[in-house]
Amino acid sequence: TLASPGVYQRATESTLHIRSKLPEVLQNPKVAIVCGSGLGGLAETIEPEPKIELAYGDIPHFPQSTVQGHAGKFVFGLLGPQKTPVALLVGRAHFYEGHTMDLVTFATRVCKVLGVETIIVTNAAGGLNPDFAVGDIVCLNDHLNLAGLVGMHPLRGPNVEEFGVRFPPLSDAYDLDLRSRTHKAWKALGFDRQKRRIHEGVYAFVAGPTYETRAECRMLRTLGADVVGMSTVPEIVVARHSGIRVLAFSLVTNCAVLKAGSRGDDPAILGMSKAELDAHLSKGRANHEEVLEAGREAAKDMQALVKHIVSDLY
Ligand code: 6GU
Repeated sequence: TLASPGVYQRATESTLHIRSKLPEVLQNPKVAIVCGSGLGGLAETIEPEPKIELAYGDIPHFPQSTVQGHAGKFVFGLLGPQKTPVALLVGRAHFYEGHTMDLVTFATRVCKVLGVETIIVTNAAGGLNPDFAVGDIVCLNDHLNLAGLVGMHPLRGPNVEEFGVRFPPLSDAYDLDLRSRTHKAWKALGFDRQKRRIHEGVYAFVAGPTYETRAECRMLRTLGADVVGMSTVPEIVVARHSGIRVLAFSLVTNCAVLKAGSRGDDPAILGMSKAELDAHLSKGRANHEEVLEAGREAAKDMQALVKHIVSDLY
């Protein structure tokens, strides 16, 4: 996972390529928005003109995304009444696909070289906090970089001075001003509180690709995590290293922790028929279809929220 040499040069080459495809008004995006699973609809809410889509596969040095539901393209356009130039990243490279941490975070480096000041990172995540419901939004205020703590860290290797310092602090990684703007925007938008709530919480980054076992979910909850997922943290670490302001949201797409008494290790399961057992166990099982479905339903609210925040910022 050692960062390959010349990441600054590669990011600069990618940026030059990208800029050569963009009209002048789009060449200096202020905000980058990383759209997680099922959250790419924001691309349809930006101004239709000018709007430029660039597939990652056509940009030098970019990784290829391999997972279903992650198209893998940049969409450059103008967002909201102030026509803020933005870069949407629809689809991302995940560590579980086999990419190095260097490649997982390469797009974030390119955002820095493009001049991005603020990055809004979204993802689909499993809920660990029993107070969270499917479809709720979590504004992240901290993380557990589990893969990073044991050595799979995007900044491992010689420090790239062009981006930042050797030992960057992360105690202020989740920008307080952006979070407070988020809660104001949420109130201003007046969503139905019965249908969907917003929370603050801690995101645990795991490498994947398996979803967590029940025991792992209990462990993560004990460690202080509110949601769990397989993305976002590497990008945030690299963004903070280079001084980009960060705002991050998880969409709770399933509840990873089962309610007491419905755990699969309940001795009652021993007396169940096969059908009863299947129904019982499937209740707490994460699956990709469910994740995509919750994403579709909540995506509109999340998009409205992001749009409101960006319009308020610039
Ligand atoms: Cl339950 N776990 C992980 N690691 N990622 C997820 C998820 C769960 N739900 C959506 N993404």
